[in-house]
Parts: sequence; C-alpha cells; structure tokens
Amino acid sequence: MESPEVVSCVGSREARGADPVSRSGGAGHPTVVGVRNLRKEYVTGRGRLVLFDNLSFSVAEGEMLAIVGQSGAGKSTLLHILGALDTPSAGDVCFTSISLSKLNVKEAASFRNQWVGYVWQFHYLLPEFTALENVAMPLLARGEKKAEALRSAEQWLTEVELGDRVGHRAGELSGGEQQRVSLARALVTRPRVLLADEPTGDLDGQTAERVFNLIERLHATHGLTSIIVTHNTGLAGRCDRILRLEKGRMEEVPPLKA
Ligand SMILES: Nc1ncnc2c1ncn2[C@@H]1O[C@H](COP(=O)(O)OP(=O)(O)OP(=O)(O)O)[C@@H](O)[C@H]1O
Ligand SMILES: [Mg+2]
Repeated sequence: MESPEVVSCVGSREARGADPVSRSGGAGHPTVVGVRNLRKEYVTGRGRLVLFDNLSFSVAEGEMLAIVGQSGAGKSTLLHILGALDTPSAGDVCFTSISLSKLNVKEAASFRNQWVGYVWQFHYLLPEFTALENVAMPLLARGEKKAEALRSAEQWLTEVELGDRVGHRAGELSGGEQQRVSLARALVTRPRVLLADEPTGDLDGQTAERVFNLIERLHATHGLTSIIVTHNTGLAGRCDRILRLEKGRMEEVPPLKA
C-alpha cells in the first residue's frame, strides 16, 4: 500500500492563507484543523474509487463548521480521517502543529483520547451498561480512577440534561436521550474538537432540534471547534460556515439568508 504523503504542519497563519477554502477575515482565530491536499481512494475488485483528491480546507478555533453533501460523497470517510480513525491515501491533516500522518498507532490512540470527541449517527453506546458507565468509559480507558470518572460522567450527564437518567441502561433510553448520552461521552475527556457525523440524522424534527440546540450550547460554553456532518440544511444554516463535498471537491456554500 502507498504510504501517506507527509505534508508539514506549517504555522497556522501561513497555512490559512494558502487554503482555497478557509475561514475568511479570521484575524485572532488561529487554525485548529488544517486539511492539506487530502486524497482517499479505495482499490476494489472493479477498479480504483477516488472519493476525493487534493482536498484542502482549514477550520478556525471556535468555529462551528457544517459539512454537507450527497450520500456516498465521502463525508463519513473524511470525518474518520480527521479523527485519526482512518488514514488518507495522500495528504495530511494537522491539528495545530500535530501532523496525523506522523503518528504511530499508539500516538493516534492518545491523540484521539485527548483531542477529539466523536459523535456518530448511530450512538454505539453499550446497551447493557448504564448511561453513567457509558459516559465514564473514555476516562476509564485512559486510566482515571473509577470514582473520579463516574463523578465527571455524572456532571456531563447533568450538562446534557440527563441528570435524572444516570442509572438507566443505554438500551432503556429514547433515541434523543441516547444521542445526548453520546454527546456527554464525546465531551467527557474535554476535547478541543468535536466531530459529529449526522448527530441528528436518526431523530425526528423536534428531537433533532433539541440535540442540535445542545450541541450549539456546549460548543459555545466549552470553547469547542466543531465539525458537523449533516443532511439537514436548516441545522447546517445555523453553523458559522457550510462546506459541501461534491464529486471529490470541497466548496463553500454561500450563507443562507433568513
Ligand atoms: N472500505 C471501502 N472499500 C470500498 N469502498 C468504500 C469503503 N468504505 C467506503 N466506501 C465507499 O466510499 C463512499 C463514501 O462513503 P461514506 O460513508 O464516506 O459516504 P457519506 O458521504 O458519509 O454517505 P452518507 O451520507 O450516506 O453517510 C461510498 O460510496 C462507499 O461505498
Ligand atoms: Mg456518512
């Protein structure tokens, strides 16, 4: 297999200036995530499938970015690469000066645990474990003492307005509640960046609205940088910026006017 091309993580200002798709007028907003000439291809029995090539964009600190695009465009694949859960065929992703292409397996695991909170469309909670245990899991995985991990988990469940559901098994919760638990689980490690893949995709309109309101509030109160994949144009329009992934290219969508 071809090894990923290494692109150095240059200083945030220079990097932003060179981007075809970057936050404009961002003085005072350093780049947190820099995507550089990213390519992803799959070699299948029927040939080479190039999902995207030469993809470059930056996300500024504190920004709430929506990524939209048709089904199959490669949004989840891109988010997996940003979260160091998958590797690109070429190019690199930089979190400030950390170049993901230079991380070994152990460093990538540590990067994920420290930098990124991930929310999936389907929550992947452990149904037989309580909400509290599910949220505490990432802290226990990084070696925190059980009592402290459970205390932090309870605080986060209260933040997502589930203080009265801590003892429920995940399988006993509603879809919206499960997604709020997964939000607490994503943020319990206090990451700088929230990556959310269709966090409201499986919810009805009203529940989706409530979960999105919560994401907005947590984004603001915890100084997060958030990248949210969504099919919901109404919710995308509430983000600072919308990028559309289409036919392997990333384009900025003009702001939606109310
Ligand atoms: N391991 C793989 N091998 C070959 N093709 C793959 C592999 N993984 C994903 N793909 C293909 O890559 C494309 C992009 O998949 P991805 O899940 O990133 O799309 P998406 O934009 O998130 O779609 P959706 O909106 O439906 O979630 C799909 O056509 C998929 O079939
Ligand atoms: Mg997807």
